[in-house]
Order: sequence, then structure tokens, then C-alpha cells
Amino acid sequence: MERKDDAPVLGIESSCDETAAAVLAPDGRILAEVVLSQTADHAAFGGVVPEIAARAHLTALDAMVRQVLHQAEVGFSGLAAIAATAGPGLIGGLLVGTGYAKGAALAAGVPYLAINHLEAHALIARLPSIGSVKFPYLLLLLSGGHSQCLAVEGVGHYRLLGATLDDAVGEAFDKTAKLLGLPYPGGPALEALARDGNEKAVPLPRPLLRRAGCDFSFSGLKTAIAQLLIAEPAGPLPRARAADIAASFQACVADILGDRLSHALAMLPNASAVILAGGVASNQAIRARLAEVAGREGKRLIAPPPRLCTDNAVMVAWAGIERLRQGNTSTLNAPCHPRWPLEAL
Ligand code: KG4
Ligand code: ZN
Repeated sequence: MERKDDAPVLGIESSCDETAAAVLAPDGRILAEVVLSQTADHAAFGGVVPEIAARAHLTALDAMVRQVLHQAEVGFSGLAAIAATAGPGLIGGLLVGTGYAKGAALAAGVPYLAINHLEAHALIARLPSIGSVKFPYLLLLLSGGHSQCLAVEGVGHYRLLGATLDDAVGEAFDKTAKLLGLPYPGGPALEALARDGNEKAVPLPRPLLRRAGCDFSFSGLKTAIAQLLIAEPAGPLPRARAADIAASFQACVADILGDRLSHALAMLPNASAVILAGGVASNQAIRARLAEVAGREGKRLIAPPPRLCTDNAVMVAWAGIERLRQGNTSTLNAPCHPRWPLEAL
């Protein structure tokens, strides 16, 4: 199959509850991008329902792809490749996105690229508009599904320095928010409430603090908050008290992440920068703490704009471009992987 090196790449993301499509020029310019969040479809259930997610991807994807191709003024056969997230994630959504990408690639005679979602989060920092960050760098992936600290040493070369032993950090925010009666997804609502609270009001456990390595643990924190609430006087929780608990929880997470980051920096002393990714990276208190820790070690902290930190297709297309530059493409029988650790790449 002849490769068109100056042609754009289409990216498709459908691994969780965002359907997204984007077209990028090979130099990383974003020619078109669209993201459709399914938050409203899942809100009533307090979390992502896999079957609802898969059906919603199926309903939305074709029109979204046609929209970005139209905006980028390119047809399927004018693409250099079609990249789709093939894992890790919910199998129904992965099958929708990769099935679509493979069918279009076969029909248009262009290469298909099966992209690892975590690799896409990891490589977005190299997009020229974010800063063309040089290898090696540290990545803190802080989302609803993943909490990981990675050494990004090259395309396809990732070293896991630490990960959550239980809940992901976004999950801890969502569960705590739920206990406080806030709507799903709870992270942004909890951050807003915490602004009115005193972060020293409630003592909370700081699991693994100062322990070697950079694994995280958040489930004890959630349990501590649940027990605290059981001990509260009967009746509705006063807003001021809820704000104090939210602020104390957030400060505790910031302490844990700050401590883990300082350990990670010691494990990768030649890191060119520290990159944040995932929904929790948009939390201002956490961002500020991590910037302070990185700054103390003389490192720059880069948090891509929230739309590129959270799930999106720009990162999938960009990972596709990085893979293509290495002469890498996937076969049409490449499988989806609900679990797909980066070290397995
Ligand atoms: O990366 P993301 O959009 O989706 C995946 O999980 O893949 O992350 C969503 C998570 C949710 O748990 C949400 O509550 C959390 O990120 N989140 C936040 C904030 N914004 C989103 N957590 C704390 N503070 C925020 N401002
Ligand atoms: Zn993600």
C-alpha cells in the first residue's frame, strides 16, 4: 500500500464515554476536531454504563467522522492513515471505533493504526502546539479510569514508575463527591465546593506518604470520609461542613500526588519536563501543588489544555503520526485489548 507522507491522519476515540474524531496534518496542526461527551447519558446511573456507551458511539461516530473530514477538506482516500483507539477501554466502544476505522481503511486503501489510549495520552505533550516536549519526560496520568506515573522514553518505550493500588484518583473524587451529595461526575463540583472550605478542618489519612516508589492509594481516604459522614449529626450535612470536608479531601490528594511526584522525579532525574494528563489535571489546587514540587526540582510542569488532557481524538491521530513516522502500521486483523498496559507495547 503506497503511503502518502504529506497527507493528514484521521483519529478516532471511543474507549470510554467520549466519542471523538480529529484530523491532523503530519506536522501536528489540528485541521478539525470534535468531541461528544456522553456524560448526560450516564449521569442517572452514577457511572459509565458500557452498553449505553457502545450504542452511543455507534449512533454518533459516522456523522462525526464525516464532519471532521469535511472541515479538513479531505476524503478517506486522501488520508495517510486512519488511527483508532484499540484499548485499553470498554470492549463495546473499542469494537465500534476500530471496526469503523478498519472498514474505512480497507475501502479507501489507506493504512490502519491500532492505537493504545495510554500511549496517546503520553505522546500528546509532543504535539508542537503544546511544546514538542523532548524524551525522556515524566507523565502523571490522572483520570477517572487510570492513575499512573510513567517515564516516557521514546515512542513505544514507556516505563511504569508507579500506579494506583486501588482506586484511580478521578474515581476517588467521584466517590467522595457522591458521599457529599454532589452530582456525577463529581470532580469539578467537588473542586468548586472546596473553594469555600478550610483544608485543615478535617484530619485525613495520607496513605503511602513518604513510602519508597510512586504507587498511589486512595481507597482508605474514601473509607475515612464515609466513616466521618456516618459520625456526623443526623439530618442534612450543612454546606459549610461539606465544603470543609471537600477542601480537606482535595488537600490530602494534593499532598499524596505531590509526594509521589517528588519520588518519581528522583527516579527519572534527566526528565525534560513533567506532563499532566487526565480529567483531574484540570483541578487548580492539584495543578498548583504539582507545579510547586516540579519547580523545586527545576522542572517545567506542562498541563495541556483540558480538552487535550481529557479523552479526545487529537491525541489518537497524533500517536498515529508518531507511529507512522516510525514506519509502523497495523494489520486489519489487529485485535482490541480491554486491558493493554503500556509496557506490553
Ligand atoms: O480523563 P477523563 O476526562 O476521563 C477518563 O476517566 O478517562 O477524567 C474524568 C475524571 C472524572 O473522575 C472527573 O471527576 C475528574 O476526572 N475530574 C476532576 C476535575 N475535572 C474532572 N477531578 C478533580 N477536579 C476537577 N476539576
Ligand atoms: Zn483517557
